[in-house]
Amino acid sequence: MNVHDSDRMRRMIQDAGYAEVQRYEDADLVILNTCYVRENAVDRVKGHLGELNRLRREGRVKKVALTGCIGAAEESAALRQTYDIDLVLGTHNTYELAEFVGLPTMRETYTPELPGTEGGHSAFVTIMTGCNYQCSYCIVPTVRGRMICRPMGSVIGEIENLVAGGTGYVTLLGQTVDAWRHEGKRFCDLLEAVSECAPRVWFTTSHPSNMEDRTLRAIGERDTIVKRLHLPVQSGSDRMLKVMHRGYKAERYRRKIEVFREAAPDGTLSTDIIVGHPGETEDDHEQTLRLVEECAFDSAYIFKFSPRRGTEAASQPGIVPDGVVQRRFLEVLRQVEQNAFRRNQRKVGGEEEIYIRHGSTEDGKAIGETWSGHAVHVNTDAAPGDYVKARIESAGPHVLYAGEPGTPV
Ligand code: 5AD
Ligand code: SF4
Repeated sequence: MNVHDSDRMRRMIQDAGYAEVQRYEDADLVILNTCYVRENAVDRVKGHLGELNRLRREGRVKKVALTGCIGAAEESAALRQTYDIDLVLGTHNTYELAEFVGLPTMRETYTPELPGTEGGHSAFVTIMTGCNYQCSYCIVPTVRGRMICRPMGSVIGEIENLVAGGTGYVTLLGQTVDAWRHEGKRFCDLLEAVSECAPRVWFTTSHPSNMEDRTLRAIGERDTIVKRLHLPVQSGSDRMLKVMHRGYKAERYRRKIEVFREAAPDGTLSTDIIVGHPGETEDDHEQTLRLVEECAFDSAYIFKFSPRRGTEAASQPGIVPDGVVQRRFLEVLRQVEQNAFRRNQRKVGGEEEIYIRHGSTEDGKAIGETWSGHAVHVNTDAAPGDYVKARIESAGPHVLYAGEPGTPV
């Protein structure tokens, strides 16, 4: 989502005559587009702000802007003072950046209407912004606001333009894409329509309470949809899921996974897990481990709980000591990696059609993706957006390794 927002801002200021440079010292304006979801994101931004403040005092950088979720948080006022930032914008008023660089006002940009960057081999398309959930630990609803769904015609129109311009891979974006609904249509209707006009489609992120079996079956049935599901579970314990206000029980999550595995047996499943949320007991943790084993995730983003000021969990009792959080983190990680490694091994020997995402680096290896959603390293000089066919020769817990590709697809 942030990468996409950065793309939109980049395009906006390029329209005002700015060009992109690689080093802070060469810039008239530096925009830090930021994430607020965990404290380590803030720590990194503070490091950059310190450096930028110094460069500006030395006259080597002219202006500094802070945008995105930190900009939308209360803390931004203090940061502005400490680091003498010229412009602070949230997530709903990026149009002010246009004014700041001397473009006419573009007030409509606070809706998800503004299209992303065109002309790339792959593109993000925002279908909804904000979130109507109130998960105990999460700052997103505070900084991104409530859900706004973009009309279907607008989404399809943008995708048709992108495809006509050469885009071969479209990723539908939103905090809870499967909650999308508009004028009687639901997410599955939108996904089906998109799958008919784009050659390759993926979507992220989904919420288990909104995920319909029909959508899961569509992933399996439709050739143009990548068979990869990211469905954050957060915890395997019903008690913790309730404390977190997730709105489902572990059993419901398991049922969704069963439907997905049946619809797309070869597909990949990933999730988000938080360890060390206040009140998490050893028993809750054990249940998370059990769920991880049963769902056999192909990958997972595991996060140590990070208290966000203003969220319910930040003031809840039952803080889990750092050492315990670290151990639980490693136990979940080990469980995920064992499963992922075992599942990836099954791919060895098979021939795969691979979409090239990143062209080859100095070592001659390009990074691609199979239709099952596996990441593959492959020796080819094919360009991003191309397809190649190659046999999988080995596998690690995170990627597959392919041999020399045959003739291009
Ligand atoms: N602490 C740790 N992880 C968090 N996430 C969101 N808020 C927090 C927090 N306060 C994680 C969730 C979410 C992902 C994007 O970030 O797992 O799904
Ligand atoms: Fe945050 Fe996702 Fe929960 Fe919304 S559904 S509050 S974005 S974790």
